[in-house]
Amino acid sequence: SIDFKVDQLMAKMTLEEKIGQMNQYNGFWDVTGPAPANGAAANKYEHLKKGWVGSMLNVSGVKNVREVQKIAVEETRLGIPLIIGFDVIHGYKTVSPIPLAEAASWDLEAIKLSAQVAAEEAAASGINWTFAPMVDISRDARWGRVMEGAGEDPYLGSMIAKARVEGFQGDDLSLAHTIVACAKHFAGYGFAEAGRDYNTVDVGTSTLYNIILPPFKAAVDAGVRTFMNGFNELNGVPVTGSAFLQRDILKNEWNFDGFVVTDWGSINEMIAHRRAKNRLHAAEIAIKAGADMDMESYAYVNELAQLVNEGKVDIGLIDDAVKRILRVKYELGLFEDPYKYCNETTETEVIGSKRINDIVLDVAKKSIVLLKNENQILPLKKQGQKIALIGALANDKTSPLGSWRIGADDGTAVSVLEGMKAYKGNTLKYEKGADVATGEIAFPKELTINVTDKSGFASAIAAAKNADVVVMVLGEHGLQSGEGRSRSELGLPGVQQELLEAIYKANKNIVLVLNNGRPLTINWADANIPAIVEAWHLGTQSGHAIAQVLYGDYNPSGKLPMSFPKNVGQVPMYYNYKSTGRPTIPAPGEVFWSHYSDVSNAPLYPFGFGLSYTTFAYSNLKVERVSDDVVEVSVNLTNTGNVKGKEVAQLYLRDEFASVTRPVRELKGFELVSLNPKESKTLKFVLTKSELGFYDNDGKYIVEPGTFSVFVGGSSEATLSAQFEL
Ligand code: IFM
Repeated sequence: SIDFKVDQLMAKMTLEEKIGQMNQYNGFWDVTGPAPANGAAANKYEHLKKGWVGSMLNVSGVKNVREVQKIAVEETRLGIPLIIGFDVIHGYKTVSPIPLAEAASWDLEAIKLSAQVAAEEAAASGINWTFAPMVDISRDARWGRVMEGAGEDPYLGSMIAKARVEGFQGDDLSLAHTIVACAKHFAGYGFAEAGRDYNTVDVGTSTLYNIILPPFKAAVDAGVRTFMNGFNELNGVPVTGSAFLQRDILKNEWNFDGFVVTDWGSINEMIAHRRAKNRLHAAEIAIKAGADMDMESYAYVNELAQLVNEGKVDIGLIDDAVKRILRVKYELGLFEDPYKYCNETTETEVIGSKRINDIVLDVAKKSIVLLKNENQILPLKKQGQKIALIGALANDKTSPLGSWRIGADDGTAVSVLEGMKAYKGNTLKYEKGADVATGEIAFPKELTINVTDKSGFASAIAAAKNADVVVMVLGEHGLQSGEGRSRSELGLPGVQQELLEAIYKANKNIVLVLNNGRPLTINWADANIPAIVEAWHLGTQSGHAIAQVLYGDYNPSGKLPMSFPKNVGQVPMYYNYKSTGRPTIPAPGEVFWSHYSDVSNAPLYPFGFGLSYTTFAYSNLKVERVSDDVVEVSVNLTNTGNVKGKEVAQLYLRDEFASVTRPVRELKGFELVSLNPKESKTLKFVLTKSELGFYDNDGKYIVEPGTFSVFVGGSSEATLSAQFEL
């Protein structure tokens, strides 16, 4: 068995070699060139040759991976192969929609397939471990990394976590086209105060157990082999040093036998958090807390031996960590063939293949959400129309790739302009209008967004005046969301709002296509613009996906995975909020109830919302107790419009009374249904007793008898309801 092999190997290892397995370095020199002679790279190179490095990240490409692997396998005493990590977040070279967009598809098969082909491309390039999926729930659109997760809901987030883990890892990790997945960031990172990246996280036990942890548990249940901790503190403890999370919950309660990698430098960051006095202290805290592999803190490789020799750290902790790491390496089959991911022919055949491009196009279309469509302005007519296409993002081949796509080359996405040009029956006039941002936009530098230039307005207005329909592509550049890209305003950046209003004066027949990595506040657009299409950052095939939806060759079916607030003051904004002591709609003039004086409590667009080119009706909701433990909910869904379409039917549950207060409603099931015009279908949702409970404030899952309400419909504001008793 693998564990036997691991034990045999470990019996041969020195303390330093064991600690080496716990050390991960970033790619540090041109591995195909001469060895580095001095400086930090030379130091890392020496460590690699001594067998003091267990993993490398950001080395990619068959040639490069083979070079570093060769050093580990051929030059070190025991020849233990490296595990090669990379942020394959939404595709590798061929890019899928950002994860938040994919979540909007609610299509678990499509999401799984997208992860599967991302794994195939990455594996073909020598990589065998991705730092994904990010399963952090977030309710705060100011946080730039909401683009990387599945949104605000723990149920949807859990289903998607499972789909992504299964997609990356497949059924058999030892196959050369599957890679190890990593659930991150454990835990609470998405609850950074005020949405400011890396900021303090202080949440109560109810939120921790019922909202934050479930997608991580789902990843474990789906067989994820690694976890990543994070930069944040949680309730006073930096998570990298949290034994409560990594040992008590993950390794003991959930029986996780894979390994935990730290986030980049996060052991050292415990010094900045003022939890650790120095690196020695930080290393001690991290290993005791259950962090198995050190990413780029240089803490384990430099400090652990001393801690063990002085008796401050038990060798048992080191052995446990090394065992976990070696186990995963064996599962990958790296000991049988360390070069199994290093095949140039596969690399050329797989990367950028037509098959993979077709798959990312498919998921891109499925990720689009139709937010508004008055007067059936969409779909666009295919013949005889004069169309003005306006906005810098319409002619951008990099922005659609979104954030966190470090394997992909700039300029490789299909722009909206290119996608629309494929439809030749209309005349198309493109005008930029205004930039989205100027100055430095690339990572890792700070953004300089200082657009004031309106010199492009006049020609854009002229094009609009001369058009039957105006398509405006506005929003955020792909790199305006992501890590370190928190925002305090959520409107259209730069002068785009002014541009939108100026064009509206010239021609009201506008289709607004949004590109963004997070919910935006677009009240004016919602009130004035007849059609709004949420197109996120859709990846390599973005322009084709958008054009096919605009022209009706694909009927949109996406539903929002995050609520869209009306303004920033409403944030955090989420549908599964709690009732308050002042919950009722008050008499006119009443002031003492939970509300704002200047904006309603409702979102602009709720979680789960999205339109179609057809319409759907729900009727005949029934709840039946099939047994003591099972409730069956059925409902009729009818396509009441004139075209075929897909609907995400959603089931929400409300526990009317409980010993710990419960949300007003919680998603408990959904089904993606395709219906022809006038076709009806009876949908059935099964709720088992064990799904009706919640975690109490001690983290214990309990199911309490009582009255439950169910709501079924096309969004979290579904009104069709019924009740049952448990
Ligand atoms: O995987 C990432 C993580 O999400 C943020 N810090 C760096 C890691 C490795 O690139």
